[in-house]
Amino acid sequence: MTTTFQLNGESCRFDGDPMTPLIDLLRRDRFMTGTKAVCREGFCGACIVHVESEPVPACLRPVGLLEGLSVTTIEGASQFDAEAQRLQAAFERVDAVQCGMCFPGMVMSLSEFLRENSRADRDAVKHAMVGNICRCTGYERIVDAVMECLAEGEHAGGADV
Ligand code: FES
Ligand code: FES
Repeated sequence: MTTTFQLNGESCRFDGDPMTPLIDLLRRDRFMTGTKAVCREGFCGACIVHVESEPVPACLRPVGLLEGLSVTTIEGASQFDAEAQRLQAAFERVDAVQCGMCFPGMVMSLSEFLRENSRADRDAVKHAMVGNICRCTGYERIVDAVMECLAEGEHAGGADV
């Protein structure tokens, strides 16, 4: 069975088993290793990508269910998504990254959160991170970076009206 979808803005055709997890297509077939495979059970969030702008775990999404849809990985978001770029810069500024395994998924989850929640408080940010596990950082600097992005948005007049 052939599945065709958009991957980071380009047409992607897959002729293999439609039950193949998206994470395997990305890492094994396309060498897009930014998306991390850690638990492979939907718990850790390291493999999150956007499907039609929704953050979803690539380990749980069979390729066959992507027909006609649009998928963005961390590679695409780093190039084309201003919110993801802003977040990556903030992570760097506050020195949030340690081993880095969780960060592609964090960026994909939290960039969408920032787009939808321009007035979020610290508790809301922590709540948004429930599906993204980090074994290294203790989370506080990650929250600091997101709060910086929210503050920048307010100063730039980007808050909800
Ligand atoms: S590898 Fe997909 S959620 Fe952990
Ligand atoms: S920085 Fe190592 S898992 Fe988050």
